[in-house]
Amino acid sequence: MNTAPDPRPVDDSAIEGHVYKVFPSDLNAHYSVFGGKIMATCDRLALVVAERHSGYPCVTASVDSFHFRAPAKDGDTLIFQASANRTFRSSMEIGVRVMAENSYTRDTRHIVSAYFTFVALGEDQKPVEVLDVKPVSENQKRRYREAGIRRDSRLAMREQIRSGKDQV
Ligand SMILES: CC(C)(COP(=O)(O)OP(=O)(O)OC[C@H]1O[C@@H](n2cnc3c(N)ncnc32)[C@H](O)[C@@H]1OP(=O)(O)O)[C@@H](O)C(=O)NCCC(=O)NCCS
Repeated sequence: MNTAPDPRPVDDSAIEGHVYKVFPSDLNAHYSVFGGKIMATCDRLALVVAERHSGYPCVTASVDSFHFRAPAKDGDTLIFQASANRTFRSSMEIGVRVMAENSYTRDTRHIVSAYFTFVALGEDQKPVEVLDVKPVSENQKRRYREAGIRRDSRLAMREQIRSGKDQV
């Protein structure tokens, strides 16, 4: 008899529309939103998704990629979306997408895509196994597939570095 718990649907832990209104104090010397501020919010939201999905305290293990596609400006409304793309054993890939909205016209721009890996920790502070993700929509299935590609590439790169290949 299979006693493994059912995979948890992506929507159960996702954050759909966390909004943040940009004020002048959020800007850098180029008058666009300071990237570190956006990164910190993404990390915080992705943590909530990882903890909701796994039911354990989680830590950020790595950030695979963080793409700033376009700047956000004073007066924009930032809209954050975060969801669990895939889980492995104790680790989970959480994807975050940020849109900038002009709230007068409702025009939106895609400004950030980022992929975080979180690890769930048990009471002994050691990595603990987490539930699988159940992708339902076509987008969720695509993200699930792509998370596997990123994981394979991350492990291959780690192995290559460990084995000292391509040493100069
Ligand atoms: C992340 C951490 C818990 C991993 O612990 P570890 O003893 O290396 O654990 P393991 O080697 O058994 O790996 C556990 C999982 O973490 C994953 N992992 C470890 N390092 C990783 C990295 N740099 N990137 C992505 N995944 C990583 C492993 O692939 C493994 O995943 P799996 O169980 O799904 O196969 C540990 O390195 C740590 O505590 N790091 C500090 C975290 C931190 O302080 N974050 C910032 C503040 S929250």
